[in-house]
Amino acid sequence: MLKGKTVMITGASSGIGAATARYAAAQGAAVVLMARRKDKLENLAEEITAAGGRALPCPGDVTSDEDVRRVVDRAVDSFGSLDAAFNNAGWGTAGTRLHELPDDVYDRIMDVNVRGGWNCLRHQIPAMLAAGSGGSIVNTSSTAGQFATGAVAPYVAAKHAVIGLTRAAAAEYGDRGVRVNALVVGTTRTELMEEVVRRFPEVETHGVARAIQRRMADPLEIAQAAAWLLSDQSSFVTGAAVPVDGGCSAV
Ligand SMILES: NC(=O)c1ccc[n+]([C@@H]2O[C@H](COP(=O)([O-])OP(=O)(O)OC[C@H]3O[C@@H](n4cnc5c(N)ncnc54)[C@H](O)[C@@H]3O)[C@@H](O)[C@H]2O)c1
Repeated sequence: MLKGKTVMITGASSGIGAATARYAAAQGAAVVLMARRKDKLENLAEEITAAGGRALPCPGDVTSDEDVRRVVDRAVDSFGSLDAAFNNAGWGTAGTRLHELPDDVYDRIMDVNVRGGWNCLRHQIPAMLAAGSGGSIVNTSSTAGQFATGAVAPYVAAKHAVIGLTRAAAAEYGDRGVRVNALVVGTTRTELMEEVVRRFPEVETHGVARAIQRRMADPLEIAQAAAWLLSDQSSFVTGAAVPVDGGCSAV
């Protein structure tokens, strides 16, 4: 599905990002792995290489414009172009009401989910335009990006913003061959979710109850949808917020 493409993946050290890195590499992509935890990225790159794939670990923080620029440059220098990007790094929490939430939590949520995605878009798009062959970008939003969920308010706001950025970027670059879509991810069994559920067990019950399929997703189920959007198989899909949520947003 992704043969010959270079795909940058942020938040690649665990959860949905790591699952997408494995799946995209198995589908033929050279994957450029970005996250802050160097050891985890190196281990994942080794695993992918041992399975016959191509992977480049690039430690960095998406909230740093300089780090993101460096990773995009390394992708182009190492593999010749940047064809697709999965802007997936994110963070959130639950269980605290708006008036009790400390400012530093608000700042971290906005920085990672919104500024991080913004940094990625503004370096990835020029790299794709320079190559002349366009590209496909997928940003990770959430059901919290479409309505209020059990997550904290700034996370709901941030994931709404991810969809706004996605639509704006899709509108600005659609005529130049760059597609931009958002994944509306439902409750998925990852490190982030395990940490939230450990502190607030009701989040699992609530998430599972809201999904028509009455379960959490496995990260691979999100990875498969991401890979389709990153690939040319979704060539007439842009500016979309695609639910992969077990039917949660249908009811
Ligand atoms: N798990 C769920 O139920 C769920 C539901 C909806 C949306 N999401 C979204 O899916 C995405 C992936 O989350 P996950 O569930 O796989 O969680 P996870 O914690 O397993 O993965 C998040 C990844 O982002 C990385 N990351 C965090 N801050 C970063 C930063 N500043 N710079 C670079 N990397 C950073 C982490 O190191 C990790 O690799 C996030 O955007 C999250 O908001 C998750």
